[in-house]
Amino acid sequence: AQTITEETAVQKVLVARAAFPDIVDRLRAHFEVQDNPDDEVWSPEGLRNALQGKVGLVATGSERIDEALLAANPQLKAVCNMAVGYNNIDVAACTARGIVVTNTPDVLTETTADFGFALMMAAARRIAESEHYLRAGKWTKWRYDMFVGPDVHGATLGILGMGRIGQAIARRGAHGFGMKVIYHNRSRLPETTEARCGARYVDKATLLREADHLVIVVPYSPSSHHAIGAVELAQMKRTATLTNIARGGVVDDAALAQALRDGLIAAAGLDVFEGEPQVHPHLLTVPNVVLTPHIASASVATRRAMANLAVDNLIAALGCGPDAGRPPT
Ligand code: DGY
Repeated sequence: AQTITEETAVQKVLVARAAFPDIVDRLRAHFEVQDNPDDEVWSPEGLRNALQGKVGLVATGSERIDEALLAANPQLKAVCNMAVGYNNIDVAACTARGIVVTNTPDVLTETTADFGFALMMAAARRIAESEHYLRAGKWTKWRYDMFVGPDVHGATLGILGMGRIGQAIARRGAHGFGMKVIYHNRSRLPETTEARCGARYVDKATLLREADHLVIVVPYSPSSHHAIGAVELAQMKRTATLTNIARGGVVDDAALAQALRDGLIAAAGLDVFEGEPQVHPHLLTVPNVVLTPHIASASVATRRAMANLAVDNLIAALGCGPDAGRPPT
């Protein structure tokens, strides 16, 4: 049983969005918890108010943690994102105020890579498009060229961003599907890592020119904003697919919709969007794109692992419980 000191008993924390109740309950052993079982999506003002008096916050990628929020809540000590990406958080502003920021890397790598691969295959092999056709009652006969698309096995897999998830996708491509894997990244990986992933470093122009299937896994930052836009799409093969499981802003969605419509590339798979949950209206009207609602990490086990890690991080960051002193992830 935990010993709850008077000091820890009064600390208040906010769990911004609905999460597994049994995992949220773990926080109640240490803190007074305000959670959000109805999953209200906060306005900036609503979040600012809900955070009053709270020293800790479990956030998701949907909450903006910016200077205005911090200035209104100077008591805040820790922001623990239930996501590996943290572009929703102004880390510099948090650091300047001595606020600990954590994310949930590692636990979602393989699940997210599975999904990226599935989305790439769905785009290439036209799974969503043909399923809609069947459901619409249009399937009346077999035809030699019905929903033909490019092969995945043996093709060239291009990866933009070669962190943990990029490497996991590379391994799937190289070792599972006999793909030639090329990647571009801010910095080149050590040769041993490249060998493990079966991947070769190339410059961005070569990546765009040679990839049969391009998968975007680069974190979002001002420097990766619209890393794939009209100019880049025009450099790709007309038979290529593009899959984005990173963040919406990395791809210019309007330019992508136009490229799909003009046949500059064959197909796309998107799990993330600029301004999500809004989706660019032109993407909704092109058939050769598979659209999913930001679910790449959504296996039961992984989402539970993410929630548990975010909770562990908050407990550690606020110096409570058996994790006291453990450096947060
Ligand atoms: C992540 O972990 O960053 C996923 O995109 C979920 O937000």
